[in-house]
Amino acid sequence: MQITTLLGSAKKKGNTATVLGWVEDELKSRRHAVERIYLNDKSIKGCLGCAQCRENPDEIACVQIDDAIGIMERMISSDVVLFASPIYFWGFSAQIKALIDRGYALVTNYHKPGHTSLMEGKRIGLLVTGADAYEENAEGLFTAFDRLVDFLLARKSGALYVGACSVPSAIPAEVRNQAAELARSLVV
Ligand SMILES: Cc1cc2nc3c(=O)[nH]c(=O)nc-3n(C[C@H](O)[C@H](O)[C@H](O)COP(=O)(O)O)c2cc1C
Repeated sequence: MQITTLLGSAKKKGNTATVLGWVEDELKSRRHAVERIYLNDKSIKGCLGCAQCRENPDEIACVQIDDAIGIMERMISSDVVLFASPIYFWGFSAQIKALIDRGYALVTNYHKPGHTSLMEGKRIGLLVTGADAYEENAEGLFTAFDRLVDFLLARKSGALYVGACSVPSAIPAEVRNQAAELARSLVV
């Protein structure tokens, strides 16, 4: 399968990148084609909310021409998309949230008859790292992701929260197994 991973941390060797690397290693060992997109290097402007994109159901008709267009095209041409983000103030990092918002251009007629999505049927997954435990911290982000899956008419194929993160070298060895399990769930 063609798998696109979206790294939403600014740190190329941080906690999220480290666990994401373990997910990608497992996918590659199973002969899947994996491409990581490091969002921090990209120019992704915030959604304008102009709704002009909603006029054209079968294309990314966003009026803003920046790197978000190519990334969304890459997502559409993939079998699996994995969102990977550190948790920032109980939500996604700004880098990945900007792309999620621009995903408004992927969907037409949300909450109405004729709801369509350029991501319909795609497998999508979520990896999040944070300093604190899941409880009273990450629930909102994971709920938002579930709603994003519904919005995109996609298939949630796995999610992992890795809490108590400080530095990559201190991530417990068992997280490697959890990362491998997430990888397997993305492609079954
Ligand atoms: C601006 C900022 C906000 C943060 N907010 C939270 C938070 O709400 N909950 C949490 O558990 N950790 C929070 N953290 C900690 C990071 O999520 C955690 O260190 C994460 O593993 C960093 O991943 P990275 O090394 O890939 O950047 C925050 C860190 C920063 C810098």
